[in-house]
Amino acid sequence: MSYPATRLRRMRRDAFSRALMRETSLMPSDLVMVAFVCEGVDHREPVASMPGVERLSIDLVQQLAGDCEAVGIPALALFPAPGAAAKSDDAREAWNPEGLMQRAIRAVKQRHPGLGLIGDVALDPYTSHGQDGLIDATGYVMNEPTIEALVRQALAQAAAGVDFVAPSDMMDGRIGVLRSALENAGHIHTRILAYSAKYASAFYGPFRDAVGSSGNLGKGGKHTYQMDVANSDEALREVELDIAEGADAVMVKPGLPYLDVLHRVKRRFGMPTFAYQVSGEYAMLKAASMNGWLDEKAVVLESLIALKRAGADAILSYYALDAARWLKA
Ligand code: PBG
Repeated sequence: MSYPATRLRRMRRDAFSRALMRETSLMPSDLVMVAFVCEGVDHREPVASMPGVERLSIDLVQQLAGDCEAVGIPALALFPAPGAAAKSDDAREAWNPEGLMQRAIRAVKQRHPGLGLIGDVALDPYTSHGQDGLIDATGYVMNEPTIEALVRQALAQAAAGVDFVAPSDMMDGRIGVLRSALENAGHIHTRILAYSAKYASAFYGPFRDAVGSSGNLGKGGKHTYQMDVANSDEALREVELDIAEGADAVMVKPGLPYLDVLHRVKRRFGMPTFAYQVSGEYAMLKAASMNGWLDEKAVVLESLIALKRAGADAILSYYALDAARWLKA
C-alpha cells in the first residue's frame, strides 16, 4: 500500500499513538550500575577522565547499593581500584580472602542482600604491568597460568557471596574451567556473566585511569587476547564457545559502536545478552554535555534504548543511576 493510503506520519501525530506503537522500552530494571571500590572510610576519589564518576570506599559503595535498590536497578557491577601496594607480578592480592573486593562483596551483600552483585574477574587491577593476565619473559599473556589465577579469584569472590562472577579477560577456555571449579567448590548458584565478545577497544581508556592500570600498561596493548575491532563472525564463535562452556549470560563490549554485533549475538543464540556502555562512551557523552553541545539526559537515554533495540537484555552503564532517576521523574 502506498501513499496516500499509507501515511506513516498518522501514527506519529500524537503522543498516544506514538506510545502505543513503541517497540522498545527502557526501564530501571534493564540497567546495571557500575562502581569502582577503593580503600578508606567515607572516602571518594574523582576519576579525571570520567567527570561525575568516583572511586568509592566500601561504606560509600554500600550507600550506592541502597540508591540502586531505591530506584529499581537490579544489580551492581563492582570493579576494584586497589592501591599500588596491592599490585604484583602474580596478582596474588586478587584472591586474598581479606582483599578489597572480597571485603566489599561481603559488606554490600550484608546490607543489601536483594541487590545482585557482579564481581569483575580479571587481573589487570592487580598486576604490576596492567595486563589482564600473567606474562612470560617476552610479555606475552599466558593462557593457562592466567586461568589458574582467575579460578582463585573467582572462588574467593564466590566465597564472599558474589552473585555473578564476570570474567573480563578473554583467555581461551576460561568459562569452562571456572564453571567446573565453582561446581566442585559447591558454588552451584554462582552465575557466570561472560565477557564473550570483548573488543580491543580504545574506548576503555578512562576505565584504565579509574583502576590505575593505564600508567603501568604503558604502550602495551591487549590485542593478543581481546578481539580485533574489525570482526563480527569471530564474535559469534566466542559467544558459542562460552555458552557451551557454561556461561549463564554473555556480553558484548563496548556498546554503542558494536550494535551490529549485539544484534547478531542476540538473534543467533537467544541468550541473556548484556551490553556494556563503557568508560569512553560515558566520557564522550559527559564531555559534550558539559560543554553544552549535547542534551545529556536525551542523548544518554537515546543511547541506552538503542542498545536495547539492538538486542541487549541488560546494560552495564556508569549512567545507570542517573538514567533510572530520569526514567522515574
Ligand atoms: C579489564 C576491563 C576493562 C574494562 C572492564 N574490564 C578494560 C580493559 O580491558 O582494558 C573496561 C570497562 C570500561 O571501559 O568501562 N579487565
